[in-house]
Amino acid sequence: MSTIPPTMRAWVFNKAGTPENVLKFNPAHPTPAPPSGSNVLVRIYYAALSSAGTNLMNNVPSILRRSAIPELDFSGFIAQAGEKAPPELSPGTAVFGTVPVLSSVLRGVGTLAAYISLPAENVIVKPKTVGLPEAAGLTSLANTAMLMLEKAKIKAGDRVLVHGGGGDVGMVALQASRSVGAAVVATCSESKMNMVLQLGAEKTIDYRASQPLHKFLVDNYGLQQFDIIFDTVGSQDLFEHSPRYLKPDGVYVNVGGVGISTALSLWRWFKNSAHPGLLGGIPRKFIMFNTVPTKQRGEKIAALAAEKSIDILVDSTFKLEDALLGYKRMLDGKRNGRCLIEISS
Ligand SMILES: NC(=O)c1ccc[n+]([C@@H]2O[C@H](COP(=O)([O-])OP(=O)(O)OC[C@H]3O[C@@H](n4cnc5c(N)ncnc54)[C@H](OP(=O)(O)O)[C@@H]3O)[C@@H](O)[C@H]2O)c1
Repeated sequence: MSTIPPTMRAWVFNKAGTPENVLKFNPAHPTPAPPSGSNVLVRIYYAALSSAGTNLMNNVPSILRRSAIPELDFSGFIAQAGEKAPPELSPGTAVFGTVPVLSSVLRGVGTLAAYISLPAENVIVKPKTVGLPEAAGLTSLANTAMLMLEKAKIKAGDRVLVHGGGGDVGMVALQASRSVGAAVVATCSESKMNMVLQLGAEKTIDYRASQPLHKFLVDNYGLQQFDIIFDTVGSQDLFEHSPRYLKPDGVYVNVGGVGISTALSLWRWFKNSAHPGLLGGIPRKFIMFNTVPTKQRGEKIAALAAEKSIDILVDSTFKLEDALLGYKRMLDGKRNGRCLIEISS
């Protein structure tokens, strides 16, 4: 069994807010206790910054935050395993995984730190053909994308619109849709069009140059062409006009809420799901959910990544001490892929 130092480098925070306002670097944060039961202790090599991580940092009330460590997604090596951990998670195994949201909220467990202790359920063996940096991006947001496909019951031959195809969830939703044999049109900003085409989109729509987007879609994709719309932006307009471009039995799956409050997002969820078409609601199936990542889905994502059906693009990598620069890049709207934090090597 390897020797684990009593303290570790970690970013911590004690109140809700943005990364630059609340995060403090602690060079000597207590290392998690040795794992018991089916828990494992992972030495983290890479953490992938995510919208989920910054949302939790911003929105969970300060009263719940005491020396909380940010972020959910990681890759690394098993350092120690509890006596009931499955044999495939023995020390030295390369793994990836994601922190359950409740552990982040209630216990401040996070991945901007040298070590993390988690139940085996949240840790997945890394495919040999996927690098450790990319594996850090196969987790929470990829789970959301895969759940979008599951909820939509996607099948070969479907025509799919991915709104936000250049974002972290959108890129995986687009590639996973292609892998089942669907044809994908994706919206993105102009600078991301080539990347999105390379990821498998049949066509791209520069959403800034095609406003209002719903009118552009009616003009160019009218006659109810789409079977599924995956919305990672959270556009109410796109849903309200969808009967013109989404088939009558089509499905609108929304996870986005870019730039709107949680309360407004929840209100739209209720309104769009519960208002019947007969009483003036939009006559299309609307699905929205909060992702709970599962091991089964994580293993499916690993298999797709191993066969190169899903590629995690890495935009940039920052040292742990430079995590605030990583957040700056992540939030500047210009990146092509994930921003990673390198923690060990
Ligand atoms: N429900 C859940 O379980 C769950 C889980 C994870 C994430 N989410 C939510 O899902 C959303 C997407 O997450 P993400 O990690 O993919 O974020 P992201 O990487 O920041 O991607 C968001 C994308 O939205 C696009 N965008 C922004 N404003 C737009 C507009 N007005 N019109 C069209 N596109 C626009 C951007 O496109 P360009 O970069 O091309 O400009 C960006 O790529 C977020 O709201 C996040 O909170 C929900």
